[in-house]
Amino acid sequence: MAAVLGGTGDLGFGLAARLAKAGVDVVIGSRKLERAVEAAEKIRTLVGRDNVHGAVNRDAAKDVEVIFFSVPYEGLVEIAREVAPFLQQSTVGVSCVVPFVEDVCAAEMLAENLQPGAKVVSALHTVSASLLSDISKPVNSDTFIFGDDRDAKKKVANLLKLVEGLRPVDGGPLKNSRYGELFTRFLVGVNKRYGVSWAGLRVTWLDDEVVAKRWEL
Ligand SMILES: NC(=O)c1ccc[n+]([C@@H]2O[C@H](COP(=O)([O-])OP(=O)(O)OC[C@H]3O[C@@H](n4cnc5c(N)ncnc54)[C@H](OP(=O)(O)O)[C@@H]3O)[C@@H](O)[C@H]2O)c1
Repeated sequence: MAAVLGGTGDLGFGLAARLAKAGVDVVIGSRKLERAVEAAEKIRTLVGRDNVHGAVNRDAAKDVEVIFFSVPYEGLVEIAREVAPFLQQSTVGVSCVVPFVEDVCAAEMLAENLQPGAKVVSALHTVSASLLSDISKPVNSDTFIFGDDRDAKKKVANLLKLVEGLRPVDGGPLKNSRYGELFTRFLVGVNKRYGVSWAGLRVTWLDDEVVAKRWEL
């Protein structure tokens, strides 16, 4: 089971819908129970499955293998501290957060604010919410996955591989996440210049087979 905190918002909703469509059990987390329940119901209708429910963030954090933090940077520390006591030791925290301020790394910030030794990776920075939300089309994009714990990265990569057309590429250690986070700021500019909302990233000359193999080792 995966939790998506902030699954009531743009990116988290699309991610939760994609995972649910792929058959993953998903819990949407929100600061307000009603919002979580409403978003979960919308996704159940959208994907025609019964594998999504809503809960307040701290309840959503319990008993999940992977927990996505899909909230604005400004709320990240507070939400990480709130849910930290409810996480299992094996739960992997995933930051999707992009800070629009200088010289910070949201993924490292998440790691500092969960319990000591918590497994943290980051991903999805360059995948747009509008692309994820249109579940009728494959995403056809790469996403870098950053992290220091190989098994945690593998777990998240193998989960994200279930999103149709999404190819997780190993981005190296967690400290590299700041570059992935920064890159999104360029993509926002590209979107504006071309009048779209779905510009993404593809690493060329990297065979699918080679990329997939890395997550099997
Ligand atoms: N949108 C994109 O295309 C995109 C792409 C890549 C990465 N990202 C990053 O992904 C994260 C989520 O993006 P988004 O566009 O989905 O954001 P969003 O819609 O503005 O917010 C997501 C959810 O976060 C919760 N939230 C809002 N303010 C909060 C706060 N101060 N503390 C705790 N929770 C708060 C809200 O849920 P409740 O009110 O229900 O708690 C909201 O529905 C951001 O860090 C963003 O930079 C976004």
